Amino acid sequence: MIYNKILRVFKEKFAAVPLVVKSPGRVNIIGEHTDYNEGFVLPAAIDKAIYVAVSKRNDQTIHLYSIDYLQDYMVQTNEVAPTKTWTTYILGVVKQLQLEGFETGGFNLVIDGDVPIGAGLSSSAAVECATVYALNELFGFRIDKMQMIRIAQQAEHRFSGVKCGIMDMFASMFGKKDHVIRLDCRSMAYEYKPLQLDGYKLVLLNTNIRHSLASSAYNERRQQCEQGVAWIRAYQPQVSSLRDATMDMLDQYVLPKDKLVYQRCSYVVAEKQRLLDGFAGLENGDIAFLGKKMFETHEGLSKLYEVSCKELDFMVDSVKHNPDVLGARMMGGGFGGCTINIVKEKGIDELIEKLNLQYKRHHYKELTAYVVGIENGTSLVKPYTAVAV
Ligand code: GLA
Repeated sequence: MIYNKILRVFKEKFAAVPLVVKSPGRVNIIGEHTDYNEGFVLPAAIDKAIYVAVSKRNDQTIHLYSIDYLQDYMVQTNEVAPTKTWTTYILGVVKQLQLEGFETGGFNLVIDGDVPIGAGLSSSAAVECATVYALNELFGFRIDKMQMIRIAQQAEHRFSGVKCGIMDMFASMFGKKDHVIRLDCRSMAYEYKPLQLDGYKLVLLNTNIRHSLASSAYNERRQQCEQGVAWIRAYQPQVSSLRDATMDMLDQYVLPKDKLVYQRCSYVVAEKQRLLDGFAGLENGDIAFLGKKMFETHEGLSKLYEVSCKELDFMVDSVKHNPDVLGARMMGGGFGGCTINIVKEKGIDELIEKLNLQYKRHHYKELTAYVVGIENGTSLVKPYTAVAV
């Protein structure tokens, strides 16, 4: 178990008893690339998580250790800067805390977890949320959860350069067992809804293509959305994000300017409505309808927003006519990672087996499948006891 391992490694390495925090990865049922356009999203925290164990030091050194990479990293608190490795997400949080007036002293931190990296399950948000939560506990900053997720988001913007929205951090921090979260990314109002799939399960199919090219393309999509809004605003000043835009506005003000920007914005405007429709399906117990909307989302992400890739398209196309699959689509930022599928429980094993063979034949790669459970968000799994061992 990860918890026991991290505790053991920490004690061996630092001869101290740490506090331990766990922060999960996330799925998103529908509502993709809507968060930074002030729309709605429908994520949930999953049963795969990042753990961090931390303890105070008597000096100003930050000593990080990753069990996965078997790597140490040391830096002084006043010399924290971005790196190109796993440490950047942790250091980004430290820097953001400093910028907001929360000075940590030196500390030891060991990290481990089972959220697959680069799979679109937000392992980086999980690292950031776990870190901010753990440091808040350790140094008694009294930062509330809403501010913690803002710090985590800023850390991502500054240190890894991805101008991400708030969905991943929100889901990791505020997840609730067996519930999805309907989050309004404009007002930050949210509600939990039990995820009742009646004989169906959420299955993630990982293409095992790492979305490494994603950050520049992600920021470019974001800019294209902002460009569309700027063109509309010249005539309709009340429009402050694509949340306020309609297809008519896009036809009138964006299409004449640029076809590609129009294409991107029209995906977002359609996705806003698809989420609301899909959510109504979930509320009415009409999972087939929700599934249909998920297929439509994939189409939009692939053809209009152009954040899919051939392996993700293959994964979705291959299940489209399978009666055991109600819905499927690529998930997260894009360019690799997982598809999310709603699959009849009895059909899961057969689906995975068949698809793996086809995937190998067409793409010379193996897929990895996860049947996901929905779990609680970030939590303290072991409080601090400042006793040396
Ligand atoms: C990434 C970002 C999120 C969100 C999704 C797409 O996961 O971190 O903020 O924009 O992509 O929906």
